[in-house]
Amino acid sequence: MTAAREQYEAFKALGLKLNMQRGQPSDQDFDLSTGLLNAVGPHDTLTRSGQDIRNYSAGGVAGLPEARELFGALMNVSAEQTLVWNNASLELQGHVLTWALLKGLPSSTSSWATQNPQMIVTTPGYDRHFLLLQTLGFELLTVDMQPDGPDVEAIERLAQSSERVKGVLFVPTYSNPGGESISAAKAERLAAMKAAARDFTLFADDAYRVHHLYPENRDVAVNFVDLCAAAGNPDRAFVFSSTSKVTFAGAGLGFLASSAANVKALGGWLNAQSIGPNKVEQWRHVRFLEEYPGGVEGLMARHAEIIAPKFAAVDEVLSAELGRGGELASWGTPKGGYFISLDTTLPVAKRVVELAAAAGVSLTPAGATYPGGHDPKNSNIRLAPTRPPADEVRQAMQVVAACIRLASEDHQK
Ligand SMILES: Cc1ncc(COP(=O)(O)O)c(C=O)c1O
Repeated sequence: MTAAREQYEAFKALGLKLNMQRGQPSDQDFDLSTGLLNAVGPHDTLTRSGQDIRNYSAGGVAGLPEARELFGALMNVSAEQTLVWNNASLELQGHVLTWALLKGLPSSTSSWATQNPQMIVTTPGYDRHFLLLQTLGFELLTVDMQPDGPDVEAIERLAQSSERVKGVLFVPTYSNPGGESISAAKAERLAAMKAAARDFTLFADDAYRVHHLYPENRDVAVNFVDLCAAAGNPDRAFVFSSTSKVTFAGAGLGFLASSAANVKALGGWLNAQSIGPNKVEQWRHVRFLEEYPGGVEGLMARHAEIIAPKFAAVDEVLSAELGRGGELASWGTPKGGYFISLDTTLPVAKRVVELAAAAGVSLTPAGATYPGGHDPKNSNIRLAPTRPPADEVRQAMQVVAACIRLASEDHQK
């Protein structure tokens, strides 16, 4: 038995049960926001703008004015450029895409569904983006995610190649899974570039916009709404985000920023389906986040204290076990977000995930970061260190390192 096999078998014999696949906050993170549950008392049902949160919306479908203001500030746009919806940003992405497909966006001349629409996505990327787009009938075109954001040259080439290419869906800040943030230069180019389709649209899923691991050393989130306006394409961008990893996951608020004209028009579309979003949830988020010491920024700094040591544990263990030279694997050291992207040097990602599962460590399925679950190099593995405690992250990464060593050795036989 080789040393690599022996070490792997020793880990397997421990009967571990560790989970590194869920991009979820930990209970300690959730505990920071339990105040949300009673942020609105029985005598606090009338908002500052005079809306009774118990009744149908009087203030319109785009959300409570106070919530639009708060989350607009978070996105660096005005309240009228902000729409606050219900519990998930993915749902809001689905609404905007469905609107484009069935009716066309305000900048469209016809509905997208009749045009065999194509959408650009970045790889490695987020499996739920691929699922959403493919379920809605988009054909996906892929471009690489690079250290300073999407391969904008490739996006430009594709966008100019056909009117069927309707846009690009990507994560601009601390991307899933690599943690890359788009540079200002690339963002400006996306805002200004020519496209064959007059309604070519930037769908920026800014889920991790405020999720800095080291508040003193952070990436600066770009403002696509302003950049597009300055470039003469005022309606080109929709920027989505949510409180899923600020307060409660899937039990908070999804919101978006776009031009005031787009927000107004989207309100018209949503108004046909809903009298308005859940104002109780919106009001208590406003109350809770406004009253939290330091506001959203203060809350995110507390999350960082919990999460940063887990990211550090991944890097420490992998560096100690595998070295930083890239002989067997390389991985990123993001400054924010929820994930670390690891690439095996040999095409063994699937085998690593299988070996880890057999040793009691559950990892995101290999291939999940590519459309159709097909990673052409069979090398990418998404690591999600946020949910388990730091000592479990450490142990899980020791197992992962042993699996990478064994899978690489077996591959070379
Ligand atoms: C990039 C990205 N967007 C969206 C989501 C989900 O957000 P929501 O709960 O607001 O739908 C996630 C969750 O992992 C994510 O990584």
